[in-house]
Amino acid sequence: MNDSNSTVSASAITADNVSKHFGPVSPVRRVSFKVEQGEFVTLLGPSGSGKSTLLGLLAGFEQTSEGTVSLLGRNLNGLHEDQLALMRRESVGFIFQAFHLIPTLSALENVAFPLYPVKMENELRHRQAQTLLEQMGLGDRVAHLPSRLSGGERQRVAIARALVNKPSILFCDEPTGNLDSTTGKEILDLLIKLNTEQGLTLFMVTHDQEIAQLSNRSLYMQDGEVKQS
Ligand SMILES: Nc1ncnc2c1ncn2[C@@H]1O[C@H](COP(=O)(O)OP(=O)(O)O)[C@@H](O)[C@H]1O
Ligand SMILES: [Mg+2]
Repeated sequence: MNDSNSTVSASAITADNVSKHFGPVSPVRRVSFKVEQGEFVTLLGPSGSGKSTLLGLLAGFEQTSEGTVSLLGRNLNGLHEDQLALMRRESVGFIFQAFHLIPTLSALENVAFPLYPVKMENELRHRQAQTLLEQMGLGDRVAHLPSRLSGGERQRVAIARALVNKPSILFCDEPTGNLDSTTGKEILDLLIKLNTEQGLTLFMVTHDQEIAQLSNRSLYMQDGEVKQS
């Protein structure tokens, strides 16, 4: 760690004076903070405070109205649409409360889906998806449609899909919000393990104080503004 030749590594996420306006509505106002690589940071705040909107800006799904977001030292404002798509695909994973699996595709095809734009053999795509599903404990569920999986299994498929491009940052929007507490705990343990064992940066929106306690640091959002605690 004290290697004097090592280069200073960029922060995972930098928000600098970020605002988002929808007409007269401003769900995100002058937000600034940094998340370092390997951190597990939670974002708390009441419903409607702007958490999901902010997550969309950080992950590059939406453009800021003002201010800049940088991921791994790259300013998203400066990227062309295709560079942004590549950045999202290679560096960022996203997990939603409602899983967002494609209902007509099997678990395996859902996980392989982000690899379809990548130039590689179909067999290799499916092998990588298979390996990830096995790591998620779903080796016997690969051919199932989402409708035949439990909530916890669906979220595991969604996690495998988010990991298939080997991202360094995982954004999670209330990932356990649709799950019972036991299943939610299992999913949380899995995400924390990815953080501690593989160094994946975790940025997680949650309502749950207990989850916040497990993170390295919490941010609090209210009326579009973020406070650090
Ligand atoms: N596309 C949009 N157009 C207009 N208002 C929006 C849009 N997206 C979000 N909002 C508004 O932004 C506010 C914050 O929403 P959201 O980010 O979903 O909050 P949270 O995730 O904290 O519950 C809400 O009042 C919502 O109606
Ligand atoms: Mg939300």
